[in-house]
Amino acid sequence: MPQTLNVYIARLLTDNVQERLASIDDVVFDVGRIEPPSREELLTRVAGKDAAIVTLTERIDEEFFQAAGPRLKVVANVAVGYDNIDVEAAARHGVVVTNTPGVLDGATADHTFALILAVCRRIVEADAFVNEGTEWIWGPRMFVGLDVSAGATLGIIGFGRIGQAVAARAAAFDMKVVAADATRAVGDVVEGVEIVSQDDLLAQSDVVSLHVPLLESTRHLMNAETIAKMKKGAYLINCARGGVVDEQALIDAIDSGHLRGAGIDTFEGEPTINPGLKARPQIVCTPHTASAGEATRDRMGDLAVDNVIAVLRGQEALTPVR
Ligand code: GLV
Repeated sequence: MPQTLNVYIARLLTDNVQERLASIDDVVFDVGRIEPPSREELLTRVAGKDAAIVTLTERIDEEFFQAAGPRLKVVANVAVGYDNIDVEAAARHGVVVTNTPGVLDGATADHTFALILAVCRRIVEADAFVNEGTEWIWGPRMFVGLDVSAGATLGIIGFGRIGQAVAARAAAFDMKVVAADATRAVGDVVEGVEIVSQDDLLAQSDVVSLHVPLLESTRHLMNAETIAKMKKGAYLINCARGGVVDEQALIDAIDSGHLRGAGIDTFEGEPTINPGLKARPQIVCTPHTASAGEATRDRMGDLAVDNVIAVLRGQEALTPVR
């Protein structure tokens, strides 16, 4: 009789994904709660498992692989970004790492566009004003912001699947779009968008949106120096990873008036949010929810489960990270 396969799922996934698990009869799933496990719980529950499904709140490192032991074959991250996972340590332990590319591009691009519109048209400030009950009468200077669809230029840094999905939305808004991408040559045209140097992009763009993974080469990509290269009065949007932006440099640029606003979904010290970001009405923050579409979250969970099942059945992972 084949040995039972045991899979640890660190966080409760969506109802649809959880229901589907019940139909996989040769695998026993040990499922955590909605909240993240403590470090101790993570290390204890993964011990002896054949696979683990984790989220970006779990740090997956040498200690994790040692705690898991030799049966562990695959770690499936329920996220496209996998900077929470030490892939070298995984390789040393012969563990396949997978992520969820492709299934969250639309949701993340929608959210990026929501932040662009929110900051450029001052939606959150205006909503707070209405809710405060302040007396008001229509006025020609009230909550004036950038006309997104009147020829504003959007600069997309990182022109992969999500960057391209943002560009498609920007095209529908008649924005001019340029992109910079370390893996593409300046002058190339991708999906109708010209690849320019990062400096050119920063100098031209009214809105700069970041869509790069967090790597050593992208940590603090936006810092005092690069922010200074942005157009005066421009906006910065970050739905990538918090570490890509030096948050203090961003706050300083808002205070000096160099930047007019920012839309931020991911934070350097997540889940702690720099109080300077929260205090400024020109900065709209969301709690890392760019991929939080109902169907998207089902697809992310399903893909993680599919990856685990494939590897445990001796097949290739669907979306290994490398
Ligand atoms: C979310 O941030 C993801 O990487 O999927």
